[in-house]
Amino acid sequence: MDVYGLIGNPVGHSLSPPMHEAAYDAVGVDARYVTFEPAVDAVGAAVEGADALGVAGLNVTVPFKRDVAALDAVRADALASAVGAVNTLDFAGDAVTGHNTDVEGSITGHNTDVEGAVRALREQGGASIAGSTAVVVGAGGAGRAVAFGLADAGAVVRVANRTESRATDLAAAVEREVDDATASGGGLDAIDAWVADADVLVNATSVGMEADVTPVPAGALHADLVVLDAVYAPLETRLLRDAAAAGATTVDGAWMLLHQGAAAFEHWTGEDPPVGAMNDALRAHLDA
Ligand code: ATR
Repeated sequence: MDVYGLIGNPVGHSLSPPMHEAAYDAVGVDARYVTFEPAVDAVGAAVEGADALGVAGLNVTVPFKRDVAALDAVRADALASAVGAVNTLDFAGDAVTGHNTDVEGSITGHNTDVEGAVRALREQGGASIAGSTAVVVGAGGAGRAVAFGLADAGAVVRVANRTESRATDLAAAVEREVDDATASGGGLDAIDAWVADADVLVNATSVGMEADVTPVPAGALHADLVVLDAVYAPLETRLLRDAAAAGATTVDGAWMLLHQGAAAFEHWTGEDPPVGAMNDALRAHLDA
């Protein structure tokens, strides 16, 4: 039996265990997915311990994604390095004998939040990303993953953030790290003009979580947009309600969660992820 899991602090209400175990059942993989909550200063020891114990793979969540990307033992792929955050560790093929801390780069790190956003927009929103113009609201961890993912997939990216300097820094990093990328940054007051010309809009802030507020003025929305809200509690945020009322195509945050999990499953098992079964399990737990 293979053991997969999630490290974060806290991890109590994670939807990943039912989503991944539904995938193992659907494809007949003999595996379990469990949660681990190391102390905030113990993530390096936790990752090395998991490796030594033969854990097959770990997802990584708040507050550890940046710390894990910086561990000597972790070889982050190009996009995860550029984002500066890892949410998926693959220990496969890493036979552990003795002093694992000496084996630099024996664990590979990915950032499937990047793929999650792009796949959600493509597969649920029907968006064609290459050649599109995308507005990303937010420049925190989620905003970085979404901005890099969209630029890597060929979109022109505009990042709007409450703290404008974080948006301009992120746009500069995207242009520096992604070949042929075009990106710009601004404050939230840029949203109206940018969204008017955009094909894709993503909310990557926490605005709308647990409260009926939106970071995007309703009047800026239009029917030619595909709108993804990374917030999934509630599933129907005010932004998505406003977007539907404007005739836009809407994609809720559970699709991004699903596709980041599906991409992790693919990295770990090499199999096509059973997204239907994973989605059913996710939605059942979100409704619970
Ligand atoms: P995450 O990893 O979830 O992205 P984060 O790194 O703390 O979390 O980033 C939170 C994002 O939500 C940031 O873009 C933040 O804007 P600032 O960079 O200005 O802090 C944004 N955010 C949080 N609360 C907000 C609010 N009330 N209005 C607008 N933006 C907000």
